[in-house]
Amino acid sequence: MNLKDEFIKYFVENGHKQIPSAPVVPENDPSVLFNTAGMQPLIPYLMGQTHPYGTRLCDYQKCIRTNDLDEVGDKTHHTFFEMLGNWSLGDYFKKESITYSFNFLTKVLNIPTEKLAVTVYAGDESVPFDQEAYDLWKDLGIKESHIASTKEDNFWAAGETGPCGTDTEIFYFRSEEEIPCTFDTEDDRWVEIWNNVFMQFNRKQDGTLEPLPKKNVDTGMGYERVLAVLEGVDDNYKTSLWKPIINKIEEVSGKSYQGNEKSIRIIADHIRTAVFISADNAGIKPSNTDQGYILRRLIRRAIRHAKKLNIEINSNWEQEIAISIIEEYKKYYPELENNKETVLEVLKTEKEKFNRTLEKGLREFEKQTRDGIDIDALTAFHLYDTYGFPIELTEELAAEKNLKVDIEGFKQKFKEHQELSRTASAGKFKGGLAGNSEIETKYHTATHLLNAALKITVNKDVHQKGSNITPERMRFDFSCDHKLTDEEKQKTENLVNEWIKQGLTVTKQEMSKEEAIASGAECMFIEKYPDIVTVYSIGDVSKELCGGPHVENTNVLGKFKIIKEEASSAGVRRIKAILEEA
Ligand code: ALA
Repeated sequence: MNLKDEFIKYFVENGHKQIPSAPVVPENDPSVLFNTAGMQPLIPYLMGQTHPYGTRLCDYQKCIRTNDLDEVGDKTHHTFFEMLGNWSLGDYFKKESITYSFNFLTKVLNIPTEKLAVTVYAGDESVPFDQEAYDLWKDLGIKESHIASTKEDNFWAAGETGPCGTDTEIFYFRSEEEIPCTFDTEDDRWVEIWNNVFMQFNRKQDGTLEPLPKKNVDTGMGYERVLAVLEGVDDNYKTSLWKPIINKIEEVSGKSYQGNEKSIRIIADHIRTAVFISADNAGIKPSNTDQGYILRRLIRRAIRHAKKLNIEINSNWEQEIAISIIEEYKKYYPELENNKETVLEVLKTEKEKFNRTLEKGLREFEKQTRDGIDIDALTAFHLYDTYGFPIELTEELAAEKNLKVDIEGFKQKFKEHQELSRTASAGKFKGGLAGNSEIETKYHTATHLLNAALKITVNKDVHQKGSNITPERMRFDFSCDHKLTDEEKQKTENLVNEWIKQGLTVTKQEMSKEEAIASGAECMFIEKYPDIVTVYSIGDVSKELCGGPHVENTNVLGKFKIIKEEASSAGVRRIKAILEEA
């Protein structure tokens, strides 16, 4: 039985449409570096926008969470994971949601009811105890002593603001021991396997809750965790999913998993995440900022552990491991196979780069710690700046010698350094949600105009390669083999401004994918779209497949101005532009 396939099959049979996994790097949400939950790409729809696939959705979504990066190495932590989810967008609510989950677990996965326990929302001054969820579980046969309630763990939100709601969490009794009569959430023989969130509020900036236009359901089930449960192993890395990858690491290192678990898990986890990041169409490359820096840290930490296992760093070890990961996942994520060469190149180049300084850095580290003195901020920063040691690497090396690192001091130095070397990206780490503010909506429409203009002013074969919008500016990546000349930039700016002045109407139409392609609508990844798509047209100058939102007329956009044009990656240029008051 394949859990992912069974999950999708079950929900499709129950009237849900399968939606494709969104990229790990959000396409239009500058508030987060990576998708951290299945619901993240669905935020606009949870907030009320119409989804082109309808009101019942399901998927498996690639997610990356790096807040526990240094915990990776134990049995359960991963930086990448897949989340299985089903959604109701103003369709069904608690009753169906709970019943679907219960039936999937007990009838499809054949889990005995007595091995399940649940939690429901305990209630506070603004939202009451979830009696309805409690009664539903009871009616399905969960005994009352297996229903607990909490406040903290039964309210779920993706960020400080945005869609949120109470939830009910489902636990599975993993142990062979006797199932306790009373469910204790602190007893770690009970593992949480599924979370059903009843999303009916929007948390505003001031912290208060307002009802959403519709009551939604958002659920999430961690694939690796449930797989481990079903296969009866207490180490996620021992599931059938990881087996070929762990075997490959054993083969290239000549070391067995047993006795070398930590390093092997770190290599497996970090290379897997690096593969998924670099296979994303966003074209992320290792760098010292944002997603690129996460990618760099993952690869470097994997290299350090490869060294610990005495792997010959100059051999193709990382390529072989990456290939085994691609093999394992390509059926579900064809972009891995399609972008295989890029992925392998990213790993190799970063390895070579780090390898040049790693030895020297390790010697420097030894020198600095010879007298058993803790590492101060300056030394940690020196190791980063001169030898490319990410902070967790220094921390890990120090821990092996029972030494401490002044992390806070390092962060301060790092921040000062970053502020010097870049001014952009402010607010990126603040949390919060995908913007649908007025200004972001304007930027969205301006992005379509820019895309259309470049085809006229530069080359008809210009295509969008990426886009990112913040309230401060828009960023647009496009295929182009040369640096734009001043004339090209000026012409582009003029053309966009001319279209703005013309007051072109923005119209939205739904049509079949074939019809959309036949009509010449522009789109980035056609295979990712559903059969029925939304097409936005701006006058007759632009036609694109897009989820929106957009302004109604270009005359509200103000004045369009290109502030920067630079290289993004090979064959891809990047324009940053702003809209000013006209
Ligand atoms: N969005 C919910 C979670 O991530 C389902 O737990």
